[in-house]
Amino acid sequence: MRLPGLIDPHVHLRDPGHTYKEDWYSGTASALAGGYTCVLAMPNTSPPITDSSSLENILEAAHGKVHCDYGIHVAGTSNNTSTVPALSDKASGLKLYLNDTFGDLRLDGLHIVNSHMSAWPDNRPVLCHAETYMAAAVLMLAVLHRRSVHICHVSRKEEIDLIRAAREQGLAVTCEVTPHHLFMTKSDIDSIKEGRYMVSPRLNTISDQNALWQAIADGVVDCIATDHAPHTLLEKDSRNSPPGFPGLETSLALMLGAVREGRLSMNRLIELMCTNPARIFGLASQQETWIEVDMHEKWEVKASQFYSRCGWSPFEGWQLQGRLKKVVLRNKTVYDRGEVLQHIRSGKNVNQ
Ligand code: NCD
Ligand code: ZN
Repeated sequence: MRLPGLIDPHVHLRDPGHTYKEDWYSGTASALAGGYTCVLAMPNTSPPITDSSSLENILEAAHGKVHCDYGIHVAGTSNNTSTVPALSDKASGLKLYLNDTFGDLRLDGLHIVNSHMSAWPDNRPVLCHAETYMAAAVLMLAVLHRRSVHICHVSRKEEIDLIRAAREQGLAVTCEVTPHHLFMTKSDIDSIKEGRYMVSPRLNTISDQNALWQAIADGVVDCIATDHAPHTLLEKDSRNSPPGFPGLETSLALMLGAVREGRLSMNRLIELMCTNPARIFGLASQQETWIEVDMHEKWEVKASQFYSRCGWSPFEGWQLQGRLKKVVLRNKTVYDRGEVLQHIRSGKNVNQ
């Protein structure tokens, strides 16, 4: 079966800074091997992407290494409220961290979030990591500034209920959920080795998970985003396990499984994994670009076979059904029968 190339609006590719976890080669190969022909990368690299020189550097780092199309989100900080808007055409969005995260980008105070929401052009996306009360705070600011806002990795019933109510009032709020929150709850923590289950937002309850599936059925969720956040096993198994799960190579098969079980239609999957992210982030449609999947093939998750450099998966050993066979990007076959064609690196920056 043929589907459009998938778009992931939320990945962490670690380059520059932590290339032993992932880099532009491995991260975009992992994307292709998951059926993604475009990924939007988060700014919590080292250094973080907060100004024009760090943005130029990351674009330089990516150039020529990239297997799929890509965009870069820039980060709001306490120092760049007046300067970062000048980057709005070169970036795929402005990321605001209102909760703790990997890296130092958490914003220290509502007044800074307020200034960013006011200064960033209202026709360009603002993405917020905003859990529990913080979700209410960003919705209020979006109302006051009469602008849209995109809420990342929604994981709780109370958050999705709030977003549903805001949309009923006509607010321009969009949101994404991750496959790990759709397929795992905190009751899975025991079966994943201690430390490895650390993820931000954390795994929540079955009632939270049911609310996310209901919101998918009701059209309240706009996107599936992997929040691909690779860390090595050594780091995950250490005492200070950093939060984050890799997800690029498991999300399509998990979602195809949900289609087979009747939890959503194939059309809805295409909306969540392609058309809605393209619309929200203003991406031009990828011409002559498609993927081919075998809906019946069964396979077992073995992270040792993945392209991601981090070498593990929270879904290790899961039996999945539905497998990617081929990826064609601008009329060129770039993935075929389990192999990323490594010599072809024709990914383009979507904001150039
Ligand atoms: C992300 C990371 O490792 O960069 N971790 C995670 O658990 N999602 C950070 C983030 O998205 O907050
Ligand atoms: Zn993230």
